[in-house]
Amino acid sequence: MNITTMGVLGAGQMGGGIAQIAAASGINVIVFDSHAPSIERCKGVHKKSLAKFVEKGKLSQADADAALARIRFTQSLDDLAKSDWVVEAVVEDASVKADLFKKLAAMLTRDDVVLATNTSSISITQIATAAGAAAHRVVGMHFFNPVPLMALVEVIPAIQTSPEVTQRTIDLATKLGKTPLKANDRAGFISNRVLMPMINEAFYAWMEGVAEPEAIDGIMKLGCNFPMGPLRLADFIGLDTCVNIMNVLAEGLNNDRYRACPLLKQLVTAGRLGDKTGRGVFTYPSK
Ligand SMILES: NC(=O)c1ccc[n+]([C@@H]2O[C@H](COP(=O)([O-])OP(=O)(O)OC[C@H]3O[C@@H](n4cnc5c(N)ncnc54)[C@H](O)[C@@H]3O)[C@@H](O)[C@H]2O)c1
Repeated sequence: MNITTMGVLGAGQMGGGIAQIAAASGINVIVFDSHAPSIERCKGVHKKSLAKFVEKGKLSQADADAALARIRFTQSLDDLAKSDWVVEAVVEDASVKADLFKKLAAMLTRDDVVLATNTSSISITQIATAAGAAAHRVVGMHFFNPVPLMALVEVIPAIQTSPEVTQRTIDLATKLGKTPLKANDRAGFISNRVLMPMINEAFYAWMEGVAEPEAIDGIMKLGCNFPMGPLRLADFIGLDTCVNIMNVLAEGLNNDRYRACPLLKQLVTAGRLGDKTGRGVFTYPSK
């Protein structure tokens, strides 16, 4: 079926990006966030990001304006009642997501409405279970940051997800200009199971004084041909999100080697969350 309206939960880095690419592909988007400042910030990010696409000649001014006009914001979940598809991208917290999926399942009862989650690591099966009778319509649709630029969407069916819903998720990701690749529902899927322990190890290396952050990142960039060092990437992802993902890996894979590095946790406690707070491992005065 055609998707006319997409509901996006969360106006943060990821929800904002997902809303932007959906709107740019012609879908009307309504973004729900419980926090008014997040909504204001998201509006600014959309304007800036679309302007960059225009500047680079990748989008006409008219198309950028049309995309902006297709995005609405709300602080009331009920406003998502007419969605043909939802993508949840709120904080990486299993109980917050479970609560929202329970509400979404009760509100969006049409059997063709897909309830997708952008979780980085939480079990899709666990989130689907919270959706009760709508569990077969729940799927992992894992975008990457920054969404408008990154090509991949990791598609993760829960145990309950119907094959039709999985296929439709692959089709939608393709329509949004992304490359969908499927992974099974195990903690961290593929991307974060491989990436996040490396980031965590970089924090251990820093904590143990093996090298300073600039050197750790420089060595990984030049030595492994990474476009960004692991500590810079952690700032970009959000140090709080990194800790949350490590917690899910430690629990889900039942292995202490996935415990978050104490220094990483300490920075989060101090409110140094990375780009989004202007300081994490590194400092970002302009943010
Ligand atoms: N940051 C990344 O690189 C990345 C990549 C892929 C997936 N993800 C996943 O995407 C999700 C969002 O991550 P993010 O980086 O955009 O986080 P973020 O902190 O930038 O944004 C989260 C947003 O959720 C809102 N929120 C929190 N609780 C809410 C609630 N109960 N109801 C409505 N809104 C609520 C917050 O106000 C905030 O605007 C997480 O599940 C994360 O694991 C993140």
